[in-house]
Amino acid sequence: MLAIVWIILLSSTLCNCLDNGLAKTPPMGWLSWERFRCNTDCVNDPDNCISENLFQTMTDIVVADGYASVGYEYINIDDCWLEKHRSHDGKLVADRKRFPNGIKALSDYIHSRGLKFGIYEDYGNYTCAGYPGIIGYEEKDALQFADWNVDYVKLDGCYALPYDMDHGYSTFGRLLNSTGKSMVYSCSWPVYQIYAGIQPNYSAIQTHCNLWRNYDDIQDSWASVENIIDYYGNNQDLIAPNAGPGHWNDPDMLIIGNFGLSYEQAKTQFAIWSILAAPLLMSVDLRTIRPQFKQILQNRKIIAVDQDPLGIQGRRIYKHKGIEIWSRPIGPLYQNFYSYAIAFVNRRTDGTPSDISVTLKELGLINFSGYRVEDLYENVDYGVLYPNTKIKVKVNPSGVVMLKGEVQYPVDL
Ligand SMILES: *[C@@H]1O[C@H](CO)[C@@H](O)[C@H](O)[C@H]1NC(C)=O
Ligand SMILES: *[C@@H]1O[C@H](CO)[C@@H](O)[C@H](O)[C@H]1NC(C)=O
Ligand SMILES: *[C@@H]1O[C@H](CO)[C@@H](O)[C@H](O)[C@H]1NC(C)=O
Ligand SMILES: *[C@@H]1O[C@H](CO)[C@@H](O)[C@H](O)[C@H]1NC(C)=O
Repeated sequence: MLAIVWIILLSSTLCNCLDNGLAKTPPMGWLSWERFRCNTDCVNDPDNCISENLFQTMTDIVVADGYASVGYEYINIDDCWLEKHRSHDGKLVADRKRFPNGIKALSDYIHSRGLKFGIYEDYGNYTCAGYPGIIGYEEKDALQFADWNVDYVKLDGCYALPYDMDHGYSTFGRLLNSTGKSMVYSCSWPVYQIYAGIQPNYSAIQTHCNLWRNYDDIQDSWASVENIIDYYGNNQDLIAPNAGPGHWNDPDMLIIGNFGLSYEQAKTQFAIWSILAAPLLMSVDLRTIRPQFKQILQNRKIIAVDQDPLGIQGRRIYKHKGIEIWSRPIGPLYQNFYSYAIAFVNRRTDGTPSDISVTLKELGLINFSGYRVEDLYENVDYGVLYPNTKIKVKVNPSGVVMLKGEVQYPVDL
């Protein structure tokens, strides 16, 4: 049924990748966009508008409710934080009403709580929502971010020419570097080029960016999550090899806990994002999230898959009649044998769970010393299984079963 050969190129030894010491594992944190968008109406909606109050509140909850202790560390502003015009001396200015204490004070607040601070800009004349972009002010803005003690910069690509991006994104990356302040650099470079029919030069992108968006913005629906899953599966030969420590593909934010995903679908998003070695950027109202969704976001075993230090992006290894199997090689590694995280996904909508039966060998788990297999959502330990062992999982509609198979050391008798 399945013939799997993992040809794993140690991309970090082959690529001339960005080495700013950051994002050795995919960044984790909270980002405002998908849930809070460009809500600037602090008069009528003070609790949900893009403001220092919102980011301080989320910072407090990330620390108090256990998110920081499982690895979420960046608190990231997205679009709509700016005044519509630069200052008379050409500087970026945060909206004076919504950020009355300015960006440096917010940055200090987030750092004082032990977290890191991310900001948003755009390589173009304007941000996507129409605020000032960086073109013409690249050096000034890089220095400004360093001055504000920014740890993470997301650079969008509206109101810019996709053909200019090879030059523009790389130049801004060099300017960030020359400030001397280490900043994670998140690029939207490939996605705008793909939209314009240009084949992105991923080797150049890896040289300049810590992560980059390949595909559409996520929206609050299962259909949107499915589109993204399909894109990463259908284009995996092109995309997956570009991931590795310090440089990641970004399938966009986690929408778990919002309005559009069921419990099963939320588990599926988290499982697939961990297989994809994706950044885990929650975009949800942490004040009102239901406990079952919080539990998904804080699943330490699945976070450990996402954060696996080998940094090898997983792949879809089987797809037939609505059933998919995704696999990612992870540590521990014994000689040349990897351990694996495996996600069984049921894309069918006939309302009964589907059984999937498969031998470990068919999943690529071929070492005769065996694998300790456990379920990462259900906390079931299956003990040590062997390549010829057949396993059977029952997967709910639009749901997932996620297993880890840890390669065993041979027992010398
Ligand atoms: C950005 O603004 C400049 C100056 O007005 C203009 O020449 C250029 O075409 C604009 N770029 C885009 C992509 O709109
Ligand atoms: C700048 O780039 C050099 C060379 O890759 C790297 O060693 C250094 O850590 C970078 N510095 C910052 C602040 O990103
Ligand atoms: C891609 O970028 C690299 C430099 O990062 C360059 O050497 C190579 O020629 C580029 N490839 C194409 C097809 O432009
Ligand atoms: C299993 O792994 C051990 C340790 O790497 C190795 O010595 C052995 O040859 C492997 N067996 C098979 C069948 O691959």
